[in-house]
Order: sequence, then structure tokens, then C-alpha cells
Amino acid sequence: MATNLFNLSVVLSLISSLTNWPNTNQNIGISPPTCSRIECPGYDVIHAGNGFEIRRYNSSMWISTSPIDDISFVDATRSGFLQLFKYIQGKNKYSEKIEMTAPVLTQVSPSDGPFCVSFVVSFYVPKVNQADPPPAKGLHVQKWSTKYAAVRQFTGFVKDSDIGVEAAALHESLVASSWADIVDKGQATSPPSTYIVAQYNSPFEFENRVNEIWMMFDMK
Ligand SMILES: *[C@@H]1O[C@H](CO)[C@@H](O)[C@H](O)[C@H]1NC(C)=O
Repeated sequence: MATNLFNLSVVLSLISSLTNWPNTNQNIGISPPTCSRIECPGYDVIHAGNGFEIRRYNSSMWISTSPIDDISFVDATRSGFLQLFKYIQGKNKYSEKIEMTAPVLTQVSPSDGPFCVSFVVSFYVPKVNQADPPPAKGLHVQKWSTKYAAVRQFTGFVKDSDIGVEAAALHESLVASSWADIVDKGQATSPPSTYIVAQYNSPFEFENRVNEIWMMFDMK
């Protein structure tokens, strides 16, 4: 009896946490909890759609790895993040320590390499470091001017099998709205079928994990 009650309460709390989570058919719009603790790039929500959100990022600065050829998103992200983690720990030209930020981005692009896909992992440079981000071997600074992103949120630890599924779901929800054309046109200059996975949590956080798929585009 006691065990049954216990199980029931676990199930009920699971259900309530699931229903609190905005899923595919609802609006998204969780501000990742991580961003109340560490610095994240600011953005404005231009449109809250069904299962997606359109954001505008004003200028931002990122430090990025070289393209990593790998068959696994998870493995590529881990090896890219390790380089970036050493960088913020002081493995850079100024031996400067840099505060942790979020999200960590992994850009997924088609490639001519052995796995037909390559990954670039990026770290958001805190505002205090943007005037003079320390250089480091093998890493590149990227300065973004204003960019728009169609965004879908999902939770949990990201698995390789999530990526295609979540990107397709974002694409479907855009097609079901008036945004698909705008996003497609806005991507004309960048390689198509490129998208970004944004992760906001450390591997040691088990709850309230926020991940996002971003499709970046330009808009007049
Ligand atoms: C982005 O720029 C616009 C136009 O200058 C401004 O109104 C907005 O507050 C800025 N947003 C953020 C998050 O800084």
C-alpha cells in the first residue's frame, strides 16, 4: 500500500512536470533558468508561434572551434566544448580566465568530409571580454550582426537521435505558419540545411534542462 502510494505520487509529479513543460503543440517561451545565474546573449521575441518562437539577436560575439568531422553530434560537441572549456580556464594568449556563459552552440552543417556532416562548437563571449577577446590557437572569434532565429525548445540530455527529429519538428511548425517562406528566403545567403543546437545546462544538472534548435535567418 505504502509503495503504491509512493509510486502514485511519483507518477503524479511526473505528469505535472510534463504538463508544465511546453511541448510541441503549445507556445514555447521558457527563459532558460540558467540565464538567471550566468550571462546569456539578450534577445527580443518578435513572434510567439505554435511550437516555435522567432527571436532577434542584436549583435553578439562567439568564440568557435574549427569544423569538427564526426558522425556523432554528442561526441563532436563534447570535444569542441573541451577546447572551449580550456580556453575559458586560461588556455589563451592572455592566460585570462573567462566567466562561464550559456548557451553553448553546436552548428550542424553538411560537409564534403567523411561523415557528410560537420560541427562547429561556440561559446558566447561575455560582454566584459567582447572589446578584446583573448585569441587562442585553433579558435576563431565570430562577431554576429543582428540575426533572427526560429527557435524550438526541448528538454533532457541531448542524444544524437534527437537532432533530426527536433529540427524536422521545427521545420514542420514553421511550414504550418506564415514563417517558413521568410525563414527560407532569409537563409538564401547562408548554406541551407544548416542549423544550430543551443544547450544551456552543465552535465551535472538533471532537471529543467533547456535545449533549443535554432534556424538562423536574415530579415529586412
Ligand atoms: C535590440 O535593438 C533594438 C533596436 O535598437 C532595441 O530596441 C532592443 O531593446 C535591443 N534588444 C536587446 C535585447 O538588447
